[in-house]
Amino acid sequence: MALPTLISDTSEWRDLKEHVEDIKKTHLRDLMGDVERCKSMTVEHDGILVDYSRQRATQETMEKLFKLAEVAHLKEKINRMYSGEHINSTENRPVLHIALRAPRDSVISCDGRNVVPDVWHVLEKINNFTERVRSGSWVGATGKPLKDVVAVGIGGSYLGPLFVHTALQIDSEAAECAKGRQLRFLANVDPVDVARSITGLNPETTLVVVVSKTFTTAETMLNARTLREWISIALGPEAIAKHMVAVSTNLKLVEKFGIDPNNAFAFWDWVGGRYSVCSAVGVLPLSLQYGFPIIQKFLEGANSIDNHFYSASFDKNIPVLLGLLSVWNATFFGFPARAILPYSQALEKFAPHIQQVSMESNGKGVSIDGIPLPFETGEIDFGEPGTNGQHSFYQLIHQGRVIPCDFIGVSKSQQPVYLKEETVSNHDELMSNFFAQPDALAYGKTPGELQNDNVLSHLIPHKTFSGNRPSFSLLLPALSAYNIGQLLAIYEHRIAVEGFIWGINSFDQWGVELGKSLASQVRKQLSLSRTLGKPVEGFNFSTTTLLNRYLQVLSF
Ligand code: F6P
Repeated sequence: MALPTLISDTSEWRDLKEHVEDIKKTHLRDLMGDVERCKSMTVEHDGILVDYSRQRATQETMEKLFKLAEVAHLKEKINRMYSGEHINSTENRPVLHIALRAPRDSVISCDGRNVVPDVWHVLEKINNFTERVRSGSWVGATGKPLKDVVAVGIGGSYLGPLFVHTALQIDSEAAECAKGRQLRFLANVDPVDVARSITGLNPETTLVVVVSKTFTTAETMLNARTLREWISIALGPEAIAKHMVAVSTNLKLVEKFGIDPNNAFAFWDWVGGRYSVCSAVGVLPLSLQYGFPIIQKFLEGANSIDNHFYSASFDKNIPVLLGLLSVWNATFFGFPARAILPYSQALEKFAPHIQQVSMESNGKGVSIDGIPLPFETGEIDFGEPGTNGQHSFYQLIHQGRVIPCDFIGVSKSQQPVYLKEETVSNHDELMSNFFAQPDALAYGKTPGELQNDNVLSHLIPHKTFSGNRPSFSLLLPALSAYNIGQLLAIYEHRIAVEGFIWGINSFDQWGVELGKSLASQVRKQLSLSRTLGKPVEGFNFSTTTLLNRYLQVLSF
């Protein structure tokens, strides 16, 4: 049997390693002057325009990246994902989040079973349940309608739904459907977050949705027990059946916890936690808030990109182009970070969500076959909406380290505001920055230009911008539920493309386990100390000292 090879052992990889040295000698200022090049570097699908002309790449680079994709078997890997093969080999699972947004009549097989009817069975159940809650036919223990929802979950069981909720919150159509209702989230085990999530809520009119794929996550289970008690104390333990529902793959544990299995909404092992926003994880709380029809549009938007990703040739394929150029930046140029910069306040939770999807997926040190990698994978993802970010960390991006940026703009604002005396709207003002920043990064400002501007000579070094800093521009037509679904799927698939090229498993997350197991040892020692007064043991000097100091605080 042939030994597994690393992508870095191929001639296509070596070719790119040499090529990057040539590209380092170019400047975006010159590359941007080549109109034919720029024309070839925009791509459009279903209303979304992506301009990658401000990447430090030429048509030759793209050809070399497509060759790399070929030798990495990118197309075969995408096909294997879509056909339900167990590509998450370390957990022996398929990766089928695309099935969560597939039309009712499609066929997606997983271990010989078409999973689409299962998906639609749960979607129908959500549609039915959320309609009953929203119409007031499902009432709480004291007969009052449930108008507020607290979704308890963490990581992938929280960040995706939070991003979509934040994005929809002030969309006029969605806001109309959410009138009089509140959706809150509880993720952190910090008692401050517990207090924040329920302050001002009345248990009589609140529904708690416990969201956990495994139903074992320490933070979520403690928060779920806390809110169970909050309801029990106010309304009696029998009220739980009316005030608590669950989303999980582990329906046995849901029942053991005391939630009626009829009020549990299933999903499946083939949905990774960070890829689960299109399952009941997101669809249930979001439908409770906005109604199922709006969330269905979100699923349709994601499905549009799923089809595009599957069928478009690589040179026209948005996730593939973004993914290949991200590998180019992260591995060949060695840029360790990536900024996600939506020029839309409604997308303020997009970067935190993508941070998890990307960093938990691609922060790996070995290949899918377990071979240590001689190159870096993954990016440090962070971001803030423009223009706030401009007044925070953009200084570093312009004159400090090189950080490839994703500029995300929206043509039609959810909230156009015109001031009478102004000639442009707030949205035009916002978008002026969206259009200006990528060029500022690409072109920079030379000492010669500064001299021409009569800048004082001692200030010239401080006012010089080296430029040549790469970015993508993504322009969405609007920010409807449909577009939000599209944006999500573009990023999910881009991250998969990167992992497929690097030859890693983007769908496991063993790196989160060590910290969890050490925390459980600490928890045990804290409990022994609190209940029996035992001294903490089993830790190094530093941790023992810190723990003792922490335990003393109550006696201060
Ligand atoms: O952070 C690790 C992780 O396993 C994530 O992948 C997951 O989204 C999160 O914890 C929550 O897990 P669960 O949904 O099982 O509670």
